[in-house]
Amino acid sequence: MRNLTEANVTEAVIQTFEGTPNERLKEIMTSLVKHLHAFIRDVNLTEAEWLAGIQFLTATGQMCDDKRQEFILLSDTLGATTLKDLINNRRPPGMTEYTILGPFYRQDAPELPLGSNMAGDISGEPVVVRGRVLAPDGRPIPNAMLDVWQADAEGNYDLQMPDLEGMALRAIFLTDSEGRFNFHTIKPSFYPIPHDGPVGQMLIATRRHPYRPAHIHFIVSADGYASVTTELFAEGDPYLDSDAVFGVRGSLVVPFVRHESANEAARLNVSAPFYTVDYDFVLEPA
Ligand code: BEZ
Ligand code: FE
Repeated sequence: MRNLTEANVTEAVIQTFEGTPNERLKEIMTSLVKHLHAFIRDVNLTEAEWLAGIQFLTATGQMCDDKRQEFILLSDTLGATTLKDLINNRRPPGMTEYTILGPFYRQDAPELPLGSNMAGDISGEPVVVRGRVLAPDGRPIPNAMLDVWQADAEGNYDLQMPDLEGMALRAIFLTDSEGRFNFHTIKPSFYPIPHDGPVGQMLIATRRHPYRPAHIHFIVSADGYASVTTELFAEGDPYLDSDAVFGVRGSLVVPFVRHESANEAARLNVSAPFYTVDYDFVLEPA
């Protein structure tokens, strides 16, 4: 180690992990150093750039508290979260695809009866969401749980509404004996991810926008099946092809069909005009 050169420093560092008792940790540290050194070589990293990187990571850590996780946001905006999700949620074709959980999920949303309005008194354009939860062979799954959350028409989650106590725009629904669900809500909007920190600075510097296309989040689970964390995206949204966190999957883009009929609205117990979203979730047996 006394005669380190550009050519041998990487191998010298990797050798220091030889005695790591945890084989997986050894593999990860070895690969990390290999790729980190390759990156430094690739870009010919300067002194000033190295320092700027350290300052950026320091600021990212300083932005984190019990409500804000800037490192996860950085992972999201660099596509690292999505790559990790794709690797860890490989499913046969035909299953509902997994996508990013995001920072706005909250446990213990209220369980509401089917047909309820999960928007409460938050105003917006009415949407009826309905469908089934199915096994891969098309059999309905009764008593499957849908944990649902979304932003409002201005793109804010309840956690971002300063005057709101408790939860809003989130609920848990259980499918009926035929695997069916339906609930009412309001049309979500596209919205910016939190961008008042170092990740926002990175987006500005790289001329990227912070927006996610309008979506509704779901965690769908049932006994005997692998649960799926997913989102339904509104067809026609301007940000479908440039989601700031790389969460869109083609199979999850659905039409929000607009209806003007007052009769149809009365039948579904909403006011016209309203939208319908139809989607069947397919779960993989565990
Ligand atoms: C979300 O969809 O709620 C979200 C996902 C990743 C980062 C920020 C927000
Ligand atoms: Fe979201």
